[in-house]
Amino acid sequence: MANIETLSNETRIFSPSAEFSKTAAISSMDAYHALCAEAATDEQGFWGRLARENLHWHKPFTQVLDESNAPFYKWFEDGQLNVSYNCLDVHLQNGNADKVALVFESDSGDVVKVTYQQLYEKVCKLANGLKSLGIQKGDRVVIYMPMSVEGVVAMQACARIGATHSVVFGGFSAKSLQERIIDAGAVAVLTADYQVRGSKHLPLKAIVDEALALGGCECIKNVIVYQRTGGEVKFAEGRDHWLHELVKEQAAECTPEWVGAEHPLFILYTSGSTGTPKGVQHSSGGYLLWAALTMKWTFDIKPTDVFWCTADIGWITGHTYIAYGPLAVGATQIIFEGIPTFPNAGRFWDMIARHKATIFYTAPTAIRSLIKAADADANIHPSKYDLSSLRLLGSVGEPINPEAWMWYHKNIGAERCPIVDTFWQTETGGHMISPLPGATPLVPGSCTLPMPGIAAVIVDEAGHDLPNGQGGLLVVKRPWPAMIRTIWNNPERYKNAYFPAEFGGKVYLAGDGSVRNKDTGYFTITGRIDDVLNVSGHRMGTMEIESALVANPMVAEAAVVGRPDDTTGEAICAFVVLKRSRPTGEEAKQIAKELRDWVAKEIGPIAKPKEIRFGDNLPKTRSGKIMRRLLRILAKGEEITQDISTLENPAILEQLKEAQ
Ligand code: WTA
Repeated sequence: MANIETLSNETRIFSPSAEFSKTAAISSMDAYHALCAEAATDEQGFWGRLARENLHWHKPFTQVLDESNAPFYKWFEDGQLNVSYNCLDVHLQNGNADKVALVFESDSGDVVKVTYQQLYEKVCKLANGLKSLGIQKGDRVVIYMPMSVEGVVAMQACARIGATHSVVFGGFSAKSLQERIIDAGAVAVLTADYQVRGSKHLPLKAIVDEALALGGCECIKNVIVYQRTGGEVKFAEGRDHWLHELVKEQAAECTPEWVGAEHPLFILYTSGSTGTPKGVQHSSGGYLLWAALTMKWTFDIKPTDVFWCTADIGWITGHTYIAYGPLAVGATQIIFEGIPTFPNAGRFWDMIARHKATIFYTAPTAIRSLIKAADADANIHPSKYDLSSLRLLGSVGEPINPEAWMWYHKNIGAERCPIVDTFWQTETGGHMISPLPGATPLVPGSCTLPMPGIAAVIVDEAGHDLPNGQGGLLVVKRPWPAMIRTIWNNPERYKNAYFPAEFGGKVYLAGDGSVRNKDTGYFTITGRIDDVLNVSGHRMGTMEIESALVANPMVAEAAVVGRPDDTTGEAICAFVVLKRSRPTGEEAKQIAKELRDWVAKEIGPIAKPKEIRFGDNLPKTRSGKIMRRLLRILAKGEEITQDISTLENPAILEQLKEAQ
């Protein structure tokens, strides 16, 4: 993959076509700069205007931003609204009741279309069903569901009654689910009998049962089960309910619960530098404003568009750009249950052609693996499909290397569609640095410039601004409406993790390194500066994986690092010391497999180390600190040329070169 120098020196530039710019929401760099200037000179006026123009307020706000208790910023605080009302009712009133909201395609290719009227009714029925179980405003509800119409309905139904949801990705284990249920203090879980993934059926309900049986989840009073496959499930009398039975007798209307703009819409757990995942808490008003605005600005969404974001609702991308953003702007969107390689690796291209998708938003990992697949099998090469409906492409979740960008541009976008490389995070709620497709000249591998109103800059360790060309820490100097509000149950951690005292306690530290091009000022993200890994666009903490490994009775010590991977971006590499002697050969392979399965059970299959290496010890300084920098070099398979004089036990490096 390209290194930082080649990325920041990339000179190919692709300007938006006149045709695209002509109808774009932001149609020139002048228009972009005008918005940036408005935000800089009249911050409150800027955000207040946009909040009034883009959302329906039940009770108007009188103050835009309250920073009296920074970094606990409050936006539009005395305003009242309902997120589901803004995503559904407004479209019924605007004559769009019969417009298709969701085009759902199942793993096996069945297609279901749901209009805004139908979606409204489904959401109201479930909202009433949840209320009939006693679930109310402020309660937390965990959603552990596959990609489905019902998953989106579940999120919207929670929003309708003012319950705060916490979606847990279906790839997390019973133990991870249990930890999240306990931390959120959830009163109910919404799940499905099974999740269908290619030929596999994952028993979601059984995993919920297992999570609850692990203990500490007495707060859960109800489990609601969407019947996806009809496969066998166990039911606990009084606690478990079928979703279809719960909603059967419910009214198809449900008065929305008006909530304050700061009311927590959801908590989403994500990995940080230290052990336990953080419950990122998002607001209702500010969050929805940015979800809607970025749909307009970054995706230039039009009434005729067919939008497709391939993320899962278990991640932030699936929250902002499936469950909320597209609905807030009344768009038609595709949601897909399956995986890009089933029945073959042409699935995405085939779906774009069949559904006439106009905007396609996916992760670099998917692009890279589909490039390989297309190279290997001409029958599923994108050129075999009619992709002429596309007008805009997007990328999210990890850096996109220029080669993958160029392939995407040529083979999917026919050199016609702009590509928006959107940099953002679970914590930011929506896009932070991204091209605006009708305005920004594109450079492969760069997410270009901050969105209007986003005060992103690069600073050194002391917090001083750095000139273009010098790499440093990415920070955001002013609050923005969709920002994280706190870490659930842990405001101290919120302050320490994101608003370090060294920078004055009010500057948001993104946790990524970045550099700006000397000439254009364009940003390139150089990767995390903490112990967070990004594997296939999934965020994971090295500490979480280490804790999982050392929880195994065989393991004495473990250190986990990332190493570059051509397809997944980064791969997980674990260095392990067993309590017994260091295994070799077949035995080492066998133990490595056992440990991988163990991590899958502790955290989830997505956290399985790709490689495990065994040593009698780990490389440590004399004071006993593990030298991760050396482990990273070993993981890459490179020779260690640095000074290792502080290393207590240099002989150990030889052992750790060997992968199992
Ligand atoms: C990385 C996903 C480079 C980054 C929306 C960030 C990116 C982390 C990009 C957040 C991009 C996301 N270019 N890196 N366009 N988008 N990242 O919370 O390291 O799952 O901090 O949010 O992904 O991951 P998260």
